[in-house]
Amino acid sequence: MRPFDGRRVLLVVSGGIAAYKSAFLCRRLLEAGASIDVLLTESAARFVGRVTFEGILGHPVHTDLWTSPMAHLELGKRADVIVVAPATADLIWRLATGAASDLATTTVLAAPCPVIVCPAMNTRMWEHPATRTNVDRLRQFGYAVVGPDEGDLAEGETGPGRLVEPDAIVASVGRALERRDGFRGLKVVTTAGPTRTPLDPVRYLSNRSSGRMGYALAAAAWRRGGDVTLISGPGSASRPIGPRVLEVETAPEMLAALERELGDAHVLLMAAAVGDFETDPSDEKIKKGDELELRLRGGPDLLLETKTLRSERGIFTLGFALESEDALARGREKLERKGMQLVAINSASEPDAGMEVSTNRVVLVDESGATDELPLARKEAIADQLLDRIEASLGRS
Ligand code: CTP
Repeated sequence: MRPFDGRRVLLVVSGGIAAYKSAFLCRRLLEAGASIDVLLTESAARFVGRVTFEGILGHPVHTDLWTSPMAHLELGKRADVIVVAPATADLIWRLATGAASDLATTTVLAAPCPVIVCPAMNTRMWEHPATRTNVDRLRQFGYAVVGPDEGDLAEGETGPGRLVEPDAIVASVGRALERRDGFRGLKVVTTAGPTRTPLDPVRYLSNRSSGRMGYALAAAAWRRGGDVTLISGPGSASRPIGPRVLEVETAPEMLAALERELGDAHVLLMAAAVGDFETDPSDEKIKKGDELELRLRGGPDLLLETKTLRSERGIFTLGFALESEDALARGREKLERKGMQLVAINSASEPDAGMEVSTNRVVLVDESGATDELPLARKEAIADQLLDRIEASLGRS
């Protein structure tokens, strides 16, 4: 099953040079399973021909208010989400004033579904107070404004104004279509990936964590409406689109970021494989030789260091326990000692669970001691089950 199977997206394209990117977006949404209607403004049709979209869709696009008397009501009514990409300064202005001057504006005005607006324009147009005011109004209406990105613009200038990449728009569509929204209004801090212990300017000690489990948790919490900050060590997996990402390298850096972010947080999802040992790194590259003796000392335990802060602020904490033997008892002990509300115990020795792989098998233990064994599944599916549990514990499901 694809993520947008059975869902309908209305893609509104307005007339900017970035309109060609919407053809890629259209393909990506189709691949994700969505049924799509495309609505081109008059000027969009000058930038990309309707045949381009019709070739991708296999059915006609909409452009004219006058071809079908009820099109302006029907298109919005049957959509689960409307995406306006690119949204020009002109269309943003008209949407902000509640204009009903063409098929695009009447449709958005009459639509009962969520609206995502992806601006694209010249930097000075984007930064003009008129545009800022109009964009603020769209936010007040509850529309999600995604982008623009910063970078090279069509006129040879550089700055904010580029249409965000199709993947970022697809992620926002996923958030708008998500039926579970138990994390709305909550700040969720997630840690993920390994940390590094530097030995000298070029070498470090680390572990095999790819970051995948924590990235899946961050992505799922964001889709469910959370305000998500992801503190990531140098994991090899790609970072999720949506959450705010803070990159760190060492355990002390991760601790500092965590302490800063936990101040106003409601939930902590602690999936990072934090290195347990520290050393004073050599300033010079260590020369090769027959032997090297390393002296390591225990480093900070991030959950222990933040235990008081978390308990004072009532931050719901999910932690992991990677165990090779006596897993249940050790997991329970970690839950209590480190002040977690829920611990996901996984095996350090099974080939299809734990680090580096795309699947996981976890046993959940909560504060009451109750256990729940989740079957082997992809980390994305495990993340959703963990978040269901947390929503239930927070009384938000
Ligand atoms: N953790 C942490 N700080 C550390 C090590 C781990 O905050 N220095 C967190 C992990 O993110 C995880 C939980 O503590 O949520 C348990 O991690 P795990 O590696 O299983 O336990 P350790 O405390 O490292 O204990 P041990 O290696 O002895 O099993």
